[in-house]
Amino acid sequence: MALLRVVDRDGVEHEVDGKTGLKVMENLRELDYGVAAICGGMCSCATCHVYVDPEWQAKLPAMMSDERELLGELAHHRENSRLSCQLEFTPALAGLRVTVAPDE
Ligand code: FES
Repeated sequence: MALLRVVDRDGVEHEVDGKTGLKVMENLRELDYGVAAICGGMCSCATCHVYVDPEWQAKLPAMMSDERELLGELAHHRENSRLSCQLEFTPALAGLRVTVAPDE
């Protein structure tokens, strides 16, 4: 377990005991205010879209082309957008802060 900070769509920040070894998405979809993750992590639905706090961006794995392409199609895409199903929640990411992106 490690601290995962989640800002919901109402702007409220929650501190969650995140399970390491799972994807960030798998932690978020268990929350009422988390993500839908409709495709289950296949990098095809973008319903796991989050904004990563800038201080954490460099600590995350690099984006693969399919994630980049999918994010680029989103109306709410930002420079710090990521698909949370592509991010493993490792102990090194303890304290990670993400914001759930608006529904498309
Ligand atoms: S869960 Fe569908 S793209 Fe991440």
